Amino acid sequence: MKVHHVGYLVKRLGRSEEAFIRLGYEIECEVRYDDVRDVNISFLRNGDYRVELIEPASKSSPLYPLLKNYKNSPYHICYIVSDLEASKKSLESDGFMVIQDTQTAPALDGRNVVFMVSADLGIIELVEDSGGNF
Ligand code: NI
Repeated sequence: MKVHHVGYLVKRLGRSEEAFIRLGYEIECEVRYDDVRDVNISFLRNGDYRVELIEPASKSSPLYPLLKNYKNSPYHICYIVSDLEASKKSLESDGFMVIQDTQTAPALDGRNVVFMVSADLGIIELVEDSGGNF
């Protein structure tokens, strides 16, 4: 499966953007508010590599508690799939567990995503192929 992005949980999105820019990344997608998860999200790109910065917008964000473990560090890798439900089923039969079932992702132009976890490699995200560059 092709990697779409590496997701970083960050405490202060603006400061993290600046730090990535200093390393040669460029902003691909300005900050968007995801009202499903109460987080601010932006995407940066460095050649073929893309990172997603995710900042919990308030203490009531479901991702806020994760800051304790993952502050300013990667916590998931997202893979592009052509058939979300088929890939989900296939990974489930390989021992992956769904931790957040199919939901729309406002920061990914409303595409559907699903989050799964494996004891051997942690959290992954699957996103539907848009057919475009993003
Ligand atoms: Ni992601």
